[in-house]
Amino acid sequence: MAEKRILLIVGGGIAAYKVLELTRLLRKAAVAVRPILTRAGAEFVTPLSLSALAEDKVYSELFSLTDEAEMGHIELSRSADLVVVAPATADLMAKAANGLASDLASTTLLATDKPVLMAPAMNVRMWEHAATRRNFAALKADGVSFVGPDEGAMACGEYGPGRMAEPAAIFEAIMAALGGTARPLAGKRALVTAGPTVEAIDPVRMLTNRSSGKQGYAIASSLAALGAEVTLVSGPTALAAPAGVTRVDVESAREMLAACEAALPADIAVCVAAVADWRPAEANGRKLKKNAETPEPIALVENPDILAMLSKDARRPRLVVGFAAETHDVEAHAKAKLVRKGCDWIVANDVSIEGTMGGDQNAVALVSAGGIERWERMAKGEVARRLAERIAAELA
Ligand SMILES: Cc1cc2nc3c(=O)[nH]c(=O)nc-3n(C[C@H](O)[C@H](O)[C@H](O)COP(=O)(O)O)c2cc1C
Repeated sequence: MAEKRILLIVGGGIAAYKVLELTRLLRKAAVAVRPILTRAGAEFVTPLSLSALAEDKVYSELFSLTDEAEMGHIELSRSADLVVVAPATADLMAKAANGLASDLASTTLLATDKPVLMAPAMNVRMWEHAATRRNFAALKADGVSFVGPDEGAMACGEYGPGRMAEPAAIFEAIMAALGGTARPLAGKRALVTAGPTVEAIDPVRMLTNRSSGKQGYAIASSLAALGAEVTLVSGPTALAAPAGVTRVDVESAREMLAACEAALPADIAVCVAAVADWRPAEANGRKLKKNAETPEPIALVENPDILAMLSKDARRPRLVVGFAAETHDVEAHAKAKLVRKGCDWIVANDVSIEGTMGGDQNAVALVSAGGIERWERMAKGEVARRLAERIAAELA
């Protein structure tokens, strides 16, 4: 990706703060980022932060004598391989859809002859308004590509579609756009499990675990970015479904198994979910009452082993990848698990490292019959990207 350049137009929405992380990801991948910050955008992020992360000057004014002398707005609009608008506010979309050129951002969008990718972000009512629907359709007809918006809780307190796609998803979309149409997993079906499972003790109590789902969601997103048709079977998490991924919500291990079986046949299965090993032998239909006597111990029975079942299924995916979260003897346990479950790869992660479970970083080792490959500690999004690329290479 060296020497690829993007022009990043940052509009005036709360989600502008996420663009700082996007800029960091892009620079780390050696993509040059030239930012245009609208006046409204500068109410949400400072030019200094953007400039420091982009390692470039921030352009804001159409009528700037110095900017225009250094790099005119027409030249600016052609100076990149791709123009990215994030957050694409309702206002910026309206201007671009109607050919307005009233500030530097909209003038650049009208003057560019480069592909344009927008990441919309706005309140759900704004997104669903007939005017935005028309503008969205017009922009798509004009050849503009979109990533997101996602559905989820918004800064304004409402819920619905309109949340800007996560930086990792925008990054993937940018990389795909810069890389042309190379989507090595196009035509392949992938099943990803993520999050915890929940096993009911009674209608109000449950057995669960600390899995956040972040790693599994990132893998689903990365596989989709490489062109796979992804079904994400997810236990309860606080995360929004990644763009372009079909999410199936489940609670218990048995529900997760049923959803996985329904998602077959698939070419790839990546089992990231932290499935409860056991469940209460009896889920009481009525709330257990507290009384003076010591409660009966809760008898547990074993849950189905989803990874082992997928590995042995008659419709076994060509590549089955499991995750092993361990707190000690990580690699030895992972090797044993590989054999026991009959899967192809195990991604072993050491959850004893603070900030792994529920955090944004992961230190993993990829264990296969061929040996162990240790990856340095990195963002979960990067683990996901690397793993998706390895999967694509394996299936090539
Ligand atoms: C606190 C606050 C948050 C806002 N968030 C958004 C938003 O997420 N999406 C949006 O389309 N407009 C949002 N707006 C309105 C835009 O900032 C406004 O329409 C502005 O003119 C857009 O400028 P732009 O074209 O430079 O993006 C917000 C306004 C305020 C005051």
